[in-house]
Amino acid sequence: MLRFKMTLNTVVLAIVMTVGSSFASNVFAESFPSEKGCKALKNPTTVQKGWCLSVNRRKGNCLACHVMVMDAWPEGFPQGGNIGPPLVAMKQRFPDREKLRSQIYDPTTVNSSSRMPPFGKHKILSDEDIETIIEFLYSI
Ligand code: HEC
Repeated sequence: MLRFKMTLNTVVLAIVMTVGSSFASNVFAESFPSEKGCKALKNPTTVQKGWCLSVNRRKGNCLACHVMVMDAWPEGFPQGGNIGPPLVAMKQRFPDREKLRSQIYDPTTVNSSSRMPPFGKHKILSDEDIETIIEFLYSI
């Protein structure tokens, strides 16, 4: 009997863990959706808008060159590239918002031979887009 109870407990625990973890990843996929999912968002937060601009291949396309280090990565979503350094702990590393802004606006101000596109200078991203991306970056 005791043995049966333990097995039952294990089964229950396994079910709880499975349901729990799929719930968690669904919530995450909702918060940081794919490019397609971004279009379907009804009332995106500023952070979500920034994520969507970053992953959109016609906008930031940051993943072409960067990995973004986040608590959990949306399941099935492609990892970023390694042409640029990983985008991680942005607030700690870029406490000066203006420095981060100019890196995105025109990276040649920091490194004259940068391979990163001058998003602001070449009008790939508007000033507002850049501010929105910064809000997202400050959340990771
Ligand atoms: C074509 C490749 C490419 C793309 C696309 C790109 N970057 Fe970069 N990025 C780089 C490279 C290379 C560096 C290294 C420094 C340099 O050369 O400017 C860099 C550096 C950075 C840095 C400084 C990192 C550090 O740790 O010092 C930040 C911040 C950054 N990129 C943000 C972004 C964001 C945000 C996007 C999307 C809007 C983006 N990058 C898109 C190539 C890219």
